[in-house]
Amino acid sequence: MIQATGLTKEFSHRGGTVVALRDATLTLPKGELAVALGPSGSGKSTLLNLIGGLDRPTSGSLSVGGTDLASLNHDGMALFRREHVGFLFQAFHLLPTFTVYENVTLPLVPLQMTQQERANRVTQALDRVGIAHRADHLPGELSGGEQQRAALARALVNSPQVLLADEPTGELDEVTGEAIIGLLEGLSRESGITVLLASHDRRFRERGYRLLTLENGSLVGDTGSSAPTPEGDAQ
Ligand SMILES: Nc1ncnc2c1ncn2[C@@H]1O[C@H](COP(=O)(O)OP(=O)(O)OP(=O)(O)O)[C@@H](O)[C@H]1O
Ligand SMILES: [Mg+2]
Repeated sequence: MIQATGLTKEFSHRGGTVVALRDATLTLPKGELAVALGPSGSGKSTLLNLIGGLDRPTSGSLSVGGTDLASLNHDGMALFRREHVGFLFQAFHLLPTFTVYENVTLPLVPLQMTQQERANRVTQALDRVGIAHRADHLPGELSGGEQQRAALARALVNSPQVLLADEPTGELDEVTGEAIIGLLEGLSRESGITVLLASHDRRFRERGYRLLTLENGSLVGDTGSSAPTPEGDAQ
């Protein structure tokens, strides 16, 4: 469902050009949980940002859930993100003056639906990640793990096909981080969401997850798909 061929991203700056991602080719099926591993500056965030439609490749092709991202204009990219992608970040990025409930509602504001449906979706997302009991709290009144759960609910509320998580456990202790990883694993397995996680945490090496190893912008290792073959899924 995610297909990248020869994906390359260059950044130009005064001193020259940085190749942040070089000629990456990969396919991530529906329901896969893959971890992009590599040292700082190896291109992990660049890969996630391209797949999430936050940035455009310099060359190569990229299709996500059947959408050819190169064919989209600026507004098309925004619509693609809104409808198909959930993002989770290291620093949570919750709006501090909005409650958890309001933060999770935000991605639905531009989407057409009844108030009742909006409320149902928010409640469902909050329940799914176990944070419903904190719905009326402000982010500043939550622990780090609870903030990341709230951010995960926000990432899920639009029922994304793809969830991109950039160092989602970077600011959490080990046990709290494990709970978040467990939730992500459940989402890929039970809800068929394709989850791509970026991390330099070596713990991921021992998990049996698909590992995409990046070095200096190049995809130097790929342990191959571990997702079950979905029945009747042609994407
Ligand atoms: N907007 C930008 N302009 C110029 N160079 C950039 C830009 N974004 C990233 N780069 C460069 O591209 C390379 C890859 O960056 P990227 O952020 O993808 O790395 P990363 O693997 O996510 O690192 P980290 O683990 O530190 O988050 C780095 O050399 C970085 O300096
Ligand atoms: Mg990064």
